[in-house]
Amino acid sequence: MSDISAPLTVATDPGWAKAATKDFDAFLQDHANCERKASALAMSLIVRYADREKILSPLIALAQEELSHFRQVFDLMQARGLRLVKDSPDPYVNQLLSILRHGRNERFLDQLLLATLIESRGAERFRLVAESLEEPALKAFYKRLWKSEAGHGVLFVELARNYFPAAEIDVRLAEMAEHEAKVIAKLAWRSALH
Ligand SMILES: [Fe+2]
Ligand SMILES: [Fe+2]
Repeated sequence: MSDISAPLTVATDPGWAKAATKDFDAFLQDHANCERKASALAMSLIVRYADREKILSPLIALAQEELSHFRQVFDLMQARGLRLVKDSPDPYVNQLLSILRHGRNERFLDQLLLATLIESRGAERFRLVAESLEEPALKAFYKRLWKSEAGHGVLFVELARNYFPAAEIDVRLAEMAEHEAKVIAKLAWRSALH
């Protein structure tokens, strides 16, 4: 149950999913925003790093896939009579951003590795949500998302491998994973992915 998939170094508390989905409507509203932001992040990396050609096609595909996740969550929300809500700042992502370095190359690497960590944490948490939900269709939905987000976790680190030596990636990813572990451990639980 608490198997941690690399590059994460700490597992989410197994009690988290029940607490986070207690108000499932609010969880869905947050989840929709996460998918929309994941698509927007892929698009913003394309704009910012248009000269790094090897990332472009995979990130266009990713932006489309995240947008289709957004569509799917939006449809679920509509079926439940829920509205999209204005984004509240994500405390998890905000604290992670503080570790990004500033030089153009360093920042490029850090952004890819941060995305690896966020996607891997998303995959882990969707798995926990899938395991804790009772309704078969919703369970299956979150199981599909878990597999998909796990793939994204791998994708970002593979994109980095086109531009950085493996040793540099490993060292930096380990540093960032340590930071992520501290941030996630201190987060208060709410009806949200983070
Ligand atoms: Fe997604
Ligand atoms: Fe994703």
